[in-house]
Amino acid sequence: MNKLSGTCVSTRRTATWPGRHVGHQMLLARQPVGLSRLCGVRGALRRRPAGRTYAAAAEDLGQRETGTGMAEDPVVQEKPKTPAELDGENFQEMPSVEFWRTWMRRSPVDDVQDFLQSGGGLGALDLGKVRSLAPFSASEWGLYEEGSFRYWSYHLLRSGFFVAQAAAGITASQRTSSEETSGRLLANLTTNAGLRLYTEALQMFRQDFANIKAGAYREPYDMDPRHRQFSPSFILRRTLRFLEEAPRTLKRRSEGVAEDVWLKSPLYPEYYMNTWHFQTDGWLSSTSAGVYETSTETLFLGQQDAMQRTTLVPLSGHLKGRDLAGCKIMELACGTGRFATFVKDNFPDATVTCLDMSPFYLQEARDNFEHWCELRGDTQGSAPGAEFLQAPAEDIPAEDGSYDAITCVYLFHEITQEVRRRVVSEMYRVLKPGGMVVFTDSIQVGDRPELDANIDAFTDFNEPNYTDYVRTDLGALFKSEGFVCGTKEVASRSKVLSFVKPLGQEEKI
Ligand SMILES: C[S@@+](CC[C@H](N)C(=O)[O-])C[C@H]1O[C@@H](n2cnc3c(N)ncnc32)[C@H](O)[C@@H]1O
Repeated sequence: MNKLSGTCVSTRRTATWPGRHVGHQMLLARQPVGLSRLCGVRGALRRRPAGRTYAAAAEDLGQRETGTGMAEDPVVQEKPKTPAELDGENFQEMPSVEFWRTWMRRSPVDDVQDFLQSGGGLGALDLGKVRSLAPFSASEWGLYEEGSFRYWSYHLLRSGFFVAQAAAGITASQRTSSEETSGRLLANLTTNAGLRLYTEALQMFRQDFANIKAGAYREPYDMDPRHRQFSPSFILRRTLRFLEEAPRTLKRRSEGVAEDVWLKSPLYPEYYMNTWHFQTDGWLSSTSAGVYETSTETLFLGQQDAMQRTTLVPLSGHLKGRDLAGCKIMELACGTGRFATFVKDNFPDATVTCLDMSPFYLQEARDNFEHWCELRGDTQGSAPGAEFLQAPAEDIPAEDGSYDAITCVYLFHEITQEVRRRVVSEMYRVLKPGGMVVFTDSIQVGDRPELDANIDAFTDFNEPNYTDYVRTDLGALFKSEGFVCGTKEVASRSKVLSFVKPLGQEEKI
């Protein structure tokens, strides 16, 4: 047994990266003899307790360099590896990893400026240098593919809507949040910086459409014009909610003051009772659940669904060719269940269990599923729409070895190291041998080096565990609980990792 979770202590440390001091929870595995005492940094890095963060290793290095460490070893100058570098050792990296690692945030305006500065005339025009939209070829963007007009019209319309909504939300917030914050956000959105973000979204759609064309998953069912998102009354309702919420969120963000959650309850762990992202009521109201999808899609200018759908790539590879009658898939921390409906839409014969701690979000998930059932009618497969389970991800009320697959999207950046480890341990327990976990969350240090300097920015959105998350060695964390690492994809601001519970491994090694 290698169950570190039972032997861990939590202690407060200060991480420094890059040039930033952030308080965070650090977990030290109790070793027979304290590692930091016995080893120099080099040794500590080699024998790093599984799941230990990059920040902790960097901090050790800092102590050594400033002479505050325990042992003396002037030779040691080795820089700790970033999570992205460690992923390279643990996972089979798919082409999207290299694409996003090297793609620079650029807009077509940047390309035109480069062209003009190069002084070349039209004769010197080289489409190969149009880097914002690279790879610049109609076939790479799927334009000759069947269904491309439908896909692109829908996604351009949808993302355009979210861009307009973002502008409206920021404008509405100008009355309440500081002039400086909202002015800066609006400037970002309406200038070339906004265009760069939008170009990034286009690149994400290109990847999404290529996945669809490669048969990894179906065309999104919400493109159906009967989907309620095309209904003016639905749009109006959602937009009004968002315009009510955005100024409140931005005001709290600009003041850096989070409100308490309105509900007091011993039923939830303390770390959960937080107003994440400064959103009103945290996870604990139907108002919050009703605005969540709109807020997050607006934040990502309409690319959130496409990023999440990348989770289906390893999952469909894993389930391909299987008879899915009786197959059970769990969507852990499902939130409003929107992604879970895409899972169900792709594997209609499987039972999808939506687990979340919030009854309010589960209610929203149920609503999403009811709508999916209405749309898909008689094509919904042999299993019922979904099951809904209110429970902590770190204590799943399910039998050992009862699930074929687990997906988990955007949970780990919110929870502490200790809870992360317990969640992974529970995933392992409830999966059947041979079962797969597909993990999706924010990119980490090194995944897109261009963004590293600002990678902590989201921490300021009342996300106390984010700084630690982006430096966590996820491969080591899952391996320590018995998993085998599979593939890695990057999808714009998200990464997708797959893990398999080895066959014939009921017990951990
Ligand atoms: C950032 S949202 C992500 C929701 C959804 N997966 C998505 O991507 O849209 C985090 C969700 O995790 C849930 N959550 C947070 N901590 C949890 C825990 N320990 N156990 C179960 N659910 C949890 C929250 O209630 C919330 O619905």
